[in-house]
Amino acid sequence: MNAVTHATRPAETHAIDDFEVIRVEANLGAEIRGLDLTGPVTDELADLLRSLLWEHQVLFFRNTGIDDAKQAEIGRIFGPPVADSIAKRRGVKDEDIIPFNTGPYSNGYYGTPWHADATYLETPYQVSILRSVIAPELGGDTAFSSGISAYEALPDEVKQKIESLDAIHRPNGKAYRLIDDEKELADYLDEYSGVAHPVVITHPFNGRKVLYVNEGFTKEVVGLPEDESKELLRTLTHQFYRPENIVRFKWQPGSLAIWDNRSVQHYGVADYGQAQRQLVRIVAQGDRPRR
Ligand code: SIN
Repeated sequence: MNAVTHATRPAETHAIDDFEVIRVEANLGAEIRGLDLTGPVTDELADLLRSLLWEHQVLFFRNTGIDDAKQAEIGRIFGPPVADSIAKRRGVKDEDIIPFNTGPYSNGYYGTPWHADATYLETPYQVSILRSVIAPELGGDTAFSSGISAYEALPDEVKQKIESLDAIHRPNGKAYRLIDDEKELADYLDEYSGVAHPVVITHPFNGRKVLYVNEGFTKEVVGLPEDESKELLRTLTHQFYRPENIVRFKWQPGSLAIWDNRSVQHYGVADYGQAQRQLVRIVAQGDRPRR
């Protein structure tokens, strides 16, 4: 942990009188201490959380003491709630809050490959918020990797090559893992048959360039022969495995992570054996990613 910033705000509410922003890695991540999230979600708190998030890409909080309803209220700071695409087809409403049981990982769900949430949608989630309810003693971290530092470290000739390219995103890996029923699978794959997003996007709120392809959902680069597309995607997605771009978060009950799906990808680490791991996830709708 390094670079502690003590921040003092006007004493409009006790919740944001005094807090600390502790940067966790050089390229992304900040732990926020001393900010009470249990109180009213004021405009001032909303502005503060948005500006911290657009700056640090992923925010971590410990011992928040918040419940599902407060987490949902915090989610609305960033946009309207959205249900997962598979759950939605099964009747779950956008506002429903369903605890997300990821353990033991032998149940087949875990782990997740590197991905930003729901990039197979035209308007993928802007922000996701996970809160730990049950955490394994050891293991089950979530890792986050920055598309901003991944982009910045690319050689200039690669930046030039990719600046006007689009890539197709599909949820087929996720669908095969989570849907057993053949008809449901076929209908789902038909409904989410692929959407094109720019390979490099401009972040809508901080104007920074972001490498926007992910191992989980990005399937092909538009207009390139198959081999060339595969090779380029392999090179680009490998940037997200570089330790320089990664921060890793250990969960404890009550911990909260808020991440910006336009600037980071994440990975659920499947190393917790038979332990239970339960999280509550709230996501906020975003706009269409733009170059
Ligand atoms: C996810 O992949 O959306 C969740 C990550 C995790 O469970 O750590």
